[in-house]
Amino acid sequence: MTQPTGPTDIDEIDLESFDRVLETTRSVRRRLDFDRPIEPEVIERCINIATQAPTGINAENWRFLVVTSAEKKLKLADLYRRALATLSEARGVPLKPTQHALADRLHEIPALILVCAIGRIANGSLPMQVGFYGSILPAAWSLMLALRARGLGSTWTSLLGFHEEEVARILGIPDEVTQTVMLPVGYMSGAVLKPAIRKPARDVTYWDHWGAVRD
Ligand SMILES: Cc1cc2nc3c(=O)[nH]c(=O)nc-3n(C[C@H](O)[C@H](O)[C@H](O)COP(=O)(O)O)c2cc1C
Repeated sequence: MTQPTGPTDIDEIDLESFDRVLETTRSVRRRLDFDRPIEPEVIERCINIATQAPTGINAENWRFLVVTSAEKKLKLADLYRRALATLSEARGVPLKPTQHALADRLHEIPALILVCAIGRIANGSLPMQVGFYGSILPAAWSLMLALRARGLGSTWTSLLGFHEEEVARILGIPDEVTQTVMLPVGYMSGAVLKPAIRKPARDVTYWDHWGAVRD
């Protein structure tokens, strides 16, 4: 029998560290080092990890657009702020101060990573929609986790999508590419990352029948 040469599925995982990363990957909007650039190799390593995520029919439709140009970040931040103002007005309630803080300094954040998917699914059936977004968003989340594990904070943002066409013009993104989330990324500085208070599994888990909880 051939001896395995690499890691196997029975290798022990350091669960403490693994769970800590999963439980403490919070939005980091303010506690960032705005002056410390991120090494491109670190971003590429995280993207290599992210692309281990599942992808429908193994298509690998993901593309990651890392924006570090001061001029382009300024333009994107301007669009982001416009989207935030529109949302804030539409809701009729002020958004959280941290959300405004992120918007105010977005252009200063070292890297804005736009997670894109090649293709469009506007009027697709439910399984097609699930397949399309399910082939890109897990990778985006893995990217946030990999960044966090290396001391890099980010936030899951979707507001730029309100200005998809303008963003496409600024960054040269073709029409057939869907922009999903944008992660503003920087090394953390003084961030305190704790598990969030969430409903326990027992309150959100049913067994064998909708609404049936475990005794
Ligand atoms: C679909 C989605 C869109 C989001 N869009 C934004 C956004 O545009 N800007 C922002 O500051 N946060 C955004 N967030 C982050 C949420 O506000 C944040 O995840 C939530 O408040 C919980 O905080 P936590 O990430 O620290 O657990 C978004 C989150 C999700 C899941």
